[in-house]
Amino acid sequence: MVSWSQSERNVIEDVWGKINIEEIGPQALARVLIVYPWTQRYFGKFGNLNSVAAILGNPNVAAHGKVVLNSLDKAVKNLDSIKTIYSNLSQLHCEILKVDPDNFKLLSDCITIVIATKLKAAFTPEIQATWQKFLAVVVAALSSRYF
Ligand code: HEM
Repeated sequence: MVSWSQSERNVIEDVWGKINIEEIGPQALARVLIVYPWTQRYFGKFGNLNSVAAILGNPNVAAHGKVVLNSLDKAVKNLDSIKTIYSNLSQLHCEILKVDPDNFKLLSDCITIVIATKLKAAFTPEIQATWQKFLAVVVAALSSRYF
């Protein structure tokens, strides 16, 4: 089981406190769809994803980006039980949505990049290291029902 030091807990809470879900969620999901276009195949019912402008202006992408980040909010608030929290979501992505779990890492990297562009110099390497540990635990939890 993963353990968190008090300073890691503080860093994660602090980064999260600086994030506006309504802004970062849409940007992160749009970025993964633009940078890794094969991820678009899972969002066939979201409508027009045919260009960068279409993706950035697509209300379904924006709405779902917020859903994803609101889900991360639960993980931030329950660092000691991330695997349990994401058990059903992992099963959904595996059995119903059939999302290749490699894509979780791609989305988590896009979330980190969008946060970095927002926080700029405040997102120091040390803070990034802790933040990425958090997202690695999320990715592992979302992948847990695949095996
Ligand atoms: C940090 C990683 C991720 C989190 C926290 C996350 C979270 C969620 C949540 C909370 C839902 C809604 C579940 C429900 O309605 O019960 C969802 C749905 C979905 N997710 Fe993910 N997800 C992640 C990564 C991905 C990735 C990488 C893909 C594909 C590339 C993906 C594809 C989908 C699809 C297609 C849906 C259904 C959307 C719809 O029909 O409205 N997810 N996800």
